[in-house]
Amino acid sequence: MAFTFFFRDLQMLELAVDHVAPELAGRSRPKIWDAGCAMGPEAYTLAILLAGRLGHFAFRNLRIAATDIDETGQFGEIVRQGVYPSGDLERVPAGVLEQYFEPAGATGAYRLDDRIRGSVRFQQHNLLSLREVDCGFSLVVCKNVLLHFTQPERLDVIRMFHRSLGPGGYFVTEHTQKLPPEASPWFEQVVPHGQLFRKLEVAECV
Ligand SMILES: C[S@@+](CC[C@H](N)C(=O)[O-])C[C@H]1O[C@@H](n2cnc3c(N)ncnc32)[C@H](O)[C@@H]1O
Repeated sequence: MAFTFFFRDLQMLELAVDHVAPELAGRSRPKIWDAGCAMGPEAYTLAILLAGRLGHFAFRNLRIAATDIDETGQFGEIVRQGVYPSGDLERVPAGVLEQYFEPAGATGAYRLDDRIRGSVRFQQHNLLSLREVDCGFSLVVCKNVLLHFTQPERLDVIRMFHRSLGPGGYFVTEHTQKLPPEASPWFEQVVPHGQLFRKLEVAECV
């Protein structure tokens, strides 16, 4: 099973949410792509953070496309059920746990509430197919995935993310992943201390 947990790298996700929330609030169909989401904790962390930021209607319309190659074929069901062992929730603040989770059975597991689950749709998808799952995203999050790829593959995948973003959309990756120099004309770095980028309009990403 892939390594992931709720509220992982919270500082970076909060920074992304700070920037993207005003854009999402102004859209009739706000969309986010969490690429390489594993069993869903990252996508659901984004949903929880945005539930606290967006108004009721904007959050109700939000769709988070959570995708993974999912070689086990099990992630889809786990994400849909939204039931997680307590070990995955150790970083979740007590107030958030109380607000958005309920105990599920006698095993110490918790189930996410329907409102949060309703914003996330899982889809099996191989990033190396270089086919975007949709277009017009306000934010693409791809963390702890690109390190598995070769440098040419990474560049191709980042080019595909650029295509999938709407004008001025944001892209987040992990701290250890610097943007390849060839991709620097496609994005501007939003903050000096984090891997948060904003799409620049270029005629074609070559
Ligand atoms: C360490 S997990 C990262 C999960 C989450 N993004 C996080 O940071 O907590 C890496 C995930 O990348 C997925 N992955 C690896 N290669 C992939 C590919 N070619 N296309 C889509 N997902 C891939 C794996 O299945 C795994 O779930």
